[in-house]
Amino acid sequence: MANVYEDMTTEALDAEIEHLQKQADEIRAQNVSLDMARGKPSAEQTALARPMLDLLTSETKLEDGAAIVDNYGTPDGLPSARALAAQILGVEPANIVVSGSSSLNLMHDVVTHGFTNGVAGNKPWCQQGQVKWLCPAPGYDRHFTVTAHLGIKNIPVPMHEDGPDMDMVQRLVESDPSVKGIWCVPKYANPTGVTYSDEVVRRFASLKPAAPDFRIYWDNAYCVHGFGEKDDALLNVFDALADVGATDLVYEFGSTAKVTFPSSGIAFVTASASDMAEVRKAFGVSRVSPEKFSQLAHVLFLKDLDGVKAHMAKHAAIVAPRFALVEQKLTDGLADLGIAKWTHPHGGYFVSFDGPEGSARKIVALMSELGVKLTPAGATWPYGDDPHDTNIRIAPTYPSLEELGQALDIFVIAVRLVSARLARAKRA
Ligand SMILES: Cc1ncc(COP(=O)(O)O)c(C=O)c1O
Repeated sequence: MANVYEDMTTEALDAEIEHLQKQADEIRAQNVSLDMARGKPSAEQTALARPMLDLLTSETKLEDGAAIVDNYGTPDGLPSARALAAQILGVEPANIVVSGSSSLNLMHDVVTHGFTNGVAGNKPWCQQGQVKWLCPAPGYDRHFTVTAHLGIKNIPVPMHEDGPDMDMVQRLVESDPSVKGIWCVPKYANPTGVTYSDEVVRRFASLKPAAPDFRIYWDNAYCVHGFGEKDDALLNVFDALADVGATDLVYEFGSTAKVTFPSSGIAFVTASASDMAEVRKAFGVSRVSPEKFSQLAHVLFLKDLDGVKAHMAKHAAIVAPRFALVEQKLTDGLADLGIAKWTHPHGGYFVSFDGPEGSARKIVALMSELGVKLTPAGATWPYGDDPHDTNIRIAPTYPSLEELGQALDIFVIAVRLVSARLARAKRA
């Protein structure tokens, strides 16, 4: 659809800018203070897991089979917690380590191990010259920071509606031995909400990397975060690997950060038996034993995959109306103008929004002036460098429905005003 502002007469465009400017001035005078920046659950959501806090008392049996909860030991995590994590990811418990409360932490440690000690007996990356990493973009800023922090060169890969651009991924992974990894969020990706198609998952599983120490970092953070009705199906990457007889290609991560409590969930990692043997050894350097009270509480509270699903249905009841509101407000305010597009996820935590070229930084800055905090423009790209300056991550979960509605009304005005000004600036 053509950009209506570019098609307007200059007089009509100037009048529109003046009208929008007046609306923005009125908002500024209201001194609102709203936050749509980070993907955090609302207080209503975290309250859903509060009953878990009542499950551990001084009377609780602090054993899990042969494992002791209140002392060192069981470095791979409690057997019951590993069984729960295995059900969540759909893999064998034997190849799972449950440790700590943050999956990002585990990803950081696995990547750092490759950098300092090497993967599968290969030279550490820090001794291999400049190594590279593929970063589907827009993507999760903290992933990009982990690799950038080690001096690994992050290379953006376009995200399509069914996953990353697999022709580019395959070309780079199979031709360049300095490419050591790729960040993937295969279900309800941050921020696009895209779930990788079966074909994309199969193409990942069929990769023939040029580097023997290349791995796929499969961050399945939102694997149980569907909104219900139209939950996306993700092909299990380990099944896809088995189908083509491949192994030692994927580390998969997950956590209950957005099931129970961010910062106090349980986090887990799985991979092939030999990759996990190496991960266990690497983790053993800095970990004596995981936090088993939290693991026990999670098992008592969630029990199994059915328990997780029942709990996530309660989250969905809170979150789905927020995403519906985003869709409605953006459609009502912007759909007919030909200036923006956005994603329509069936789960997860984000909507990815693209305005006209050169608009994202201006929109985020204007929103900040008007009292609404957004994720910084560019954050969804490696090094904060969105090449066309179009992408904004919308995180609708944290504000109340009322606040979200207010923030989106302001967003619509900001997008229109910035787009109209950009169209005007193109004229003499
Ligand atoms: C894709 C993705 N992975 C991981 C995380 C963080 O998970 P954790 O709290 O388990 O480190 C987030 C949080 O926003 C995320 O969006």
